[in-house]
Amino acid sequence: MNKKVKKFLNKKNRAKVICLTAYSKNVASILDKHCDLVLVGDSLGSVLYDYKSTKEVTLDTMINHSKSVRIGVKKSLMVVDMPYNTYRNSKEALKNARLVMKKTKCDAVKLEGGKKIIPIVKSLVKNKIPVMGHLGILPQTEKKFTYKGKKLIERNRILKDAKLLEEAGIFSVVLECIETKLAKKITEQLNIITVGIGSSANCDGQVLVIDDLIGLSQSKFRFVKKYANVNQMINLAVKRYKSEVLKKQFPKAKHSFKN
Ligand code: KIV
Repeated sequence: MNKKVKKFLNKKNRAKVICLTAYSKNVASILDKHCDLVLVGDSLGSVLYDYKSTKEVTLDTMINHSKSVRIGVKKSLMVVDMPYNTYRNSKEALKNARLVMKKTKCDAVKLEGGKKIIPIVKSLVKNKIPVMGHLGILPQTEKKFTYKGKKLIERNRILKDAKLLEEAGIFSVVLECIETKLAKKITEQLNIITVGIGSSANCDGQVLVIDDLIGLSQSKFRFVKKYANVNQMINLAVKRYKSEVLKKQFPKAKHSFKN
């Protein structure tokens, strides 16, 4: 197992794990100071491109954003989402994951799904590609985004999937909007790190989309807490700039060049 992944795994039962998404260098370099893991999530499809679903996100888009993020991430573990239809079988997954690792120099890739993707995960891990899993709501393949684990049969399936993924060799798993007690059970029964989003404080760590956390996006998900209102800050700054340009208060001599 690579050193960075090992260090990340060492946090299990020691300290909460801090994860956030980033889609570009400037934000990534700020997050890198505070995070254990920075994820280039395919949520960028809805957050940046207004796509109706993450299905529309391409490998090229993920690679380009990840290259930018890589410049900002120096110490955290950098994980890149494999987009929809890029890991339909082991051969396709290996080819595309290798490309992502080579072009972006990321530390790991993330795949959505349970039992169905086990052979794919095994093949990636065998080829020394660290894999993060993703269970609960699976935005790449689901239309309805309601929390998971209402029914016993669903809870049992998710727990089983988590165990299968761990056996297949993943080092961590995102749990997206799963029921609180189920998150606890999975976190207690697995030796790998569970990272929750909308899955309670029972997980080993937490992840949020950075644009939601800083109040840049307009998202109103129950699981999001806004820690800043960057939208308002940008608005105010641009308003001041506009007003100063109109009143000829900006630029001043100190912003200009004179022979
Ligand atoms: O795409 C993404 O940003 C994610 C996180 C929400 C976990 O998968």
